[in-house]
Amino acid sequence: MSHHLVEVKNLRHVYPDGTEALRDVSFRITHGESVAIIGANGAGKSTLLLHLNGYLATSQGSIRIGDFPLNPATLLEIRRTVGMVFQDPDDQLFMPTVFDDVAFGPLNLGLAGDEVEERVQEALARVGAGHLRDKPPYRLSGGGKKRVAIATVLAMSPDILVMDEPTSGLDPFARRQLMALLKDFQHTRIFTSHDLDMVLELCERTIVLHEGEVRADGPTLDIFRDEALLAACRLEKPFAMQGCPVCGG
Ligand SMILES: Nc1ncnc2c1ncn2[C@@H]1O[C@H](COP(=O)(O)OP(=O)(O)O)[C@@H](O)[C@H]1O
Ligand SMILES: [Mg+2]
Repeated sequence: MSHHLVEVKNLRHVYPDGTEALRDVSFRITHGESVAIIGANGAGKSTLLLHLNGYLATSQGSIRIGDFPLNPATLLEIRRTVGMVFQDPDDQLFMPTVFDDVAFGPLNLGLAGDEVEERVQEALARVGAGHLRDKPPYRLSGGGKKRVAIATVLAMSPDILVMDEPTSGLDPFARRQLMALLKDFQHTRIFTSHDLDMVLELCERTIVLHEGEVRADGPTLDIFRDEALLAACRLEKPFAMQGCPVCGG
């Protein structure tokens, strides 16, 4: 299914202050892949994700989502295809109630009352946040906000789910729930994370960014076994791959 393809070619991004956040990034992700983008702070992960549905415009290079090159004429269609969960849920939630926030996308798609209600219910149920529907988002805990932010994106039925640090700020139980949800999502998933154990569990493929460049792109296990690569990119092995601190095994 070509409409789930994500192709980034020679992407460069320079912020107005002159910071070159992405130097020359290329990769291709096909339908149904679950891909992690990892790297130290400042490696360019968020800058890269923000390009995938046009929140940031490319300085150089090109992006293709499915059958469409990303440009001003295709932006709306691409935002329908690519669901983006920002790192900070406060950037995503802005309506007076959780219901209004989750309904916002479906209403914009032109859906009618019953369908909107159905989508909101289903999306909130999937993130275990049905009980929050009448609350103002700003009153929720960090984990509650995160779940609702994810629901706003699921309610749009995206073909490609993009998340920036999805487990940051979640307690262990909420993290587990979110991982189960991500496992369940059938289409393409792309996310950045410092939670390397989550990456190991959920992503068969990992792209390592370092100083705005792709340093490695391959099977997640191979990446985490490459100690020289991890050290050079200021990364560590997931806990699950480190020796037991008690028995040394
Ligand atoms: N709005 C901005 N203006 C200028 N520089 C920025 C801006 N946002 C990020 N940067 C810089 O771009 C680089 C990449 O940042 P970012 O994409 O946030 O990395 P990561 O998500 O991997 O931590 C860093 O050097 C960061 O300081
Ligand atoms: Mg970031």
